Amino acid sequence: MSDKPVLLITRKLSARTLERAARDYDVRINLEDQVYTPAELLAKCQDVDAVLPCHSEHFSADMVAQLPDRLKIIANHSVGVDHCDLKACKDRGIIVTNTPDVLSDATAEIAILLLLGAARRASEGDRMMRNSEWKHWSPSFMVGSHVTGKTLGIIGMGRVGQAMARCARGFNMDIHYYNRSRLSADKEMGATYHDTIESVLGISNFLSLHCPATPETTGLLNSRRIGLMPDGAVVVNTARGALIDEPALIAALKSGKLAAAGLDVFAKEPGGNPAFAELENIFMLPHIGSATFETRDAMGFRALDNIDAWFAGKQPGDRVA
Ligand code: 8YV
Repeated sequence: MSDKPVLLITRKLSARTLERAARDYDVRINLEDQVYTPAELLAKCQDVDAVLPCHSEHFSADMVAQLPDRLKIIANHSVGVDHCDLKACKDRGIIVTNTPDVLSDATAEIAILLLLGAARRASEGDRMMRNSEWKHWSPSFMVGSHVTGKTLGIIGMGRVGQAMARCARGFNMDIHYYNRSRLSADKEMGATYHDTIESVLGISNFLSLHCPATPETTGLLNSRRIGLMPDGAVVVNTARGALIDEPALIAALKSGKLAAAGLDVFAKEPGGNPAFAELENIFMLPHIGSATFETRDAMGFRALDNIDAWFAGKQPGDRVA
């Protein structure tokens, strides 16, 4: 019998993460990597001291109420914590942590990929080539939206939003942002602050969403707000699918109000929205914002750092509840 704390790891994390976890904890790892049903997750949690889940495991108030008293910490392998009912965890005295910072650059890379791919019609061109459908060329062929020098609106100027702004400056974009509070000048780096979302939308040729999914931000980009954007704007979302009213986005992409969208996240995951597949002007990826080898190691290590801190009697660095 090991005297190490028992740690449940709900998905197949990076090899280095699993190796470190197995060194320091009595681990139960879901190596099959199939998402547990809520009942399976609850059962797996019954005899553990800590859980290291991904955003694919939902800790609803109902689930949290049935967790055992010995379970002290849910150390997420994600920056987003919308899959956890934080209040319920707090009420039960269960610590919740996330993994900020370490995925900001990887996610910003994907946001830039989506922005460029949507603006320059990447999925359309790629599909044409793969299907051997490139039959002619003309100066009016596959013309897209110019990115360099355009205005980029960022909703949510946290760590990922700031990383996105840094990348976009490489294209000489004029950065405008909405955030709950204005950043200090060293973080703003010349970006223009707006105290309403509407004001940013009004000038955004490109819009990138970087805020968490909360009851307040759900459906943030709806038809009224899309209507405020310049005609032919491009929308990018690497944050959470819940931020966008998907039928409203489809209507705007069909009418030409929006030129294109680049999406890595969807209201329904996995799977996405089948209606999107019918639109040539959507460039889509399957929620891979943080999926780089380096970032997966860093996320796993950051989650383990939080667990280590807790069992060493210290305050975990990334505590959110
Ligand atoms: C991850 C994410 O892929 O961190 C988040 O909130 O959505 C993604 O980076 C995922 O959560 C991994 O668990």
